[in-house]
Amino acid sequence: MRSEKMDAFVQEVDARTDILQVVQSYVPMKRRGGRYWGCCPFHHEKTPSFSVVPDKGFFYCFGCHAGGNAFKFLSMIENVSYFDAIKMQAEKLGIPMPARDRTPEQEARDRQFANLRKVNQMARDFFHNCLTMTRYGEPGKAYFAGRGISDATIEAFGLGFAPAAWDKLSTAFQKRGVPQQVLLEAGLAAERKQGPGLYDRFRNRIIIPIADIRGRVVGFGGRVLDDSKPKYLNTPETILFNKRKLLFGLDRSHRAIQDAGYAIVVEGYMDAISVFGAGVENVVATLGTAFTADHAKLLMQYLPPGHPVICFCYDSDAAGQNATIRALAIIQHTGAEVRVIVVPDGKDPDEYIRKHGADAFRSLAEHAQGLFTYRLQYVLRHVDYTQRAGKEEVERQMAPVILSQPTKARLETTRRLAQILMLDEGIVRADLQAAGRRAPEPENTGPTAAQQRQPVRKVDDAAEAAGRVIIRMAWNHPDELTRLRDVLPTDHIPSPVQQEILRYLQDQHDAGRAPTAVQAAADLSDAAGEKLTEALTEDVDPSAEAQAYRDSVSMLRKSYFTQLIQEHSRRATEAINAKDNARAEAELKEVKRITELRSALDADET
Ligand code: UTP
Ligand code: MN
Repeated sequence: MRSEKMDAFVQEVDARTDILQVVQSYVPMKRRGGRYWGCCPFHHEKTPSFSVVPDKGFFYCFGCHAGGNAFKFLSMIENVSYFDAIKMQAEKLGIPMPARDRTPEQEARDRQFANLRKVNQMARDFFHNCLTMTRYGEPGKAYFAGRGISDATIEAFGLGFAPAAWDKLSTAFQKRGVPQQVLLEAGLAAERKQGPGLYDRFRNRIIIPIADIRGRVVGFGGRVLDDSKPKYLNTPETILFNKRKLLFGLDRSHRAIQDAGYAIVVEGYMDAISVFGAGVENVVATLGTAFTADHAKLLMQYLPPGHPVICFCYDSDAAGQNATIRALAIIQHTGAEVRVIVVPDGKDPDEYIRKHGADAFRSLAEHAQGLFTYRLQYVLRHVDYTQRAGKEEVERQMAPVILSQPTKARLETTRRLAQILMLDEGIVRADLQAAGRRAPEPENTGPTAAQQRQPVRKVDDAAEAAGRVIIRMAWNHPDELTRLRDVLPTDHIPSPVQQEILRYLQDQHDAGRAPTAVQAAADLSDAAGEKLTEALTEDVDPSAEAQAYRDSVSMLRKSYFTQLIQEHSRRATEAINAKDNARAEAELKEVKRITELRSALDADET
């Protein structure tokens, strides 16, 4: 784009730019000697080592060695390219970009953009002044006060109020020379159904201006003062306002996001305003749409490239949870780490802060859950994993999360999943990998018909395998049955069919009989007969059988306790929900007792 005209443009912007003025609009500076000093905005410090030498047109930080001219400063602090920094500064100074050799269509389009920007800015001022300076704004003021929104917050976000009238804005703006067409294109007004003229889109609503990343107003959200519907009205889609690409608040939070190294995403702009007001400034809100890949891309620009973290804090209701899960799926493919701030009490972050205060929210934010934990809790709530099919379903749903983790974390989470599902760790690992291979690529719409028809691979239940080892031992060495009865009561074995076999063998042993395979097959149910045959014909290493037997007994004892713990935890939760404190306490005591028993088993082994 280099041309003489462009060079002249850059020179003019440069000549008219005062670096001190530019820097001072971000950082307070004090004169000392021939320089001005302040605290560096590019690294954390308490004593100023950041300086500006206005005559030379340079800034320099003696702490972090950042330095350069005014445009370099702007590009760093606004996180834009060097050339965009020049353009921003030109806009501020009112210096027009040299007309490139543009087609008339391009020129018309540029004019359209400029007009819409201008009318949006005017509308922001109109709504804000209406709130803060006129009697029409009183209901809005009362509403903000009722929600605990301070004057400082109203100023900071330029909040406003749309008066309860049909055409206050349209009339005022047309008087000031704004064409009808521009009001319509900006989504600020609509055509009357009967007769000529316009009516205002936003009426009798508090107004939240929505800006693009550079702080230019591109649209509005308007909320009713009571319970009427629709609760929120947004600017319709315009050439400036695309909800799938905009994040509310990013214009003022991007520096806090860079500082914190992570971004918090909430569902509503009132949540973002509340969280920001609570001193957690690295927050943005979606605008009533799902979190998109474009949103993720936008945030990534401000996150540390080595370790970007996006933290979701959605409503705690079912819709919010589902939205979180969908957002997590979007993030999966961006390489960012995901965390979830779970709001325990109150529907959304705003309500939580109003109820419990800013400190409580900050502490929630510090204890955000990792993706694995959040996802696991969600899946376990939705899948009955007592049976084999359920376990496979849990594995399938957890596979994308676990497989996306770095190796060390993956080993740990695989182990935890195996424990919970009471499956062998190696089997879970294999299943996860198989599920990962089956998983559709993100671009694909879903599994192909052929993939869908593939039978689900049979999961070999570790408990079932352990049962087979024990049955084999009982068959080959019946004397062992006496001791087995004490360490592992038959009803601790999860498979009912295996229970049947072992009871039968015990009865035979007690009666002093040694059954033949043919006899056993006749005495047992069909299913049990089959399972017995399976156990006895399994291909095993005889020299490893003794150890396998000890391991199997110990595993089944442990998983029996784990099952008991789960059952009592579940009952405790029910009791808590039913507000039955006595029962809850008893159940929790039981959980504790059995947990200790289980730990004692671990200690025995070592
Ligand atoms: P919520 O209904 O969760 O709003 O919608 P909220 O933030 O809790 O609002 P308050 O606390 O009642 O004031 C979340 C977001 O969904 C969009 C808005 O962007 C809102 O911020 N939304 C919601 C709409 O666009 N229209 C609606 O009618 C409702
Ligand atoms: Mn709310």
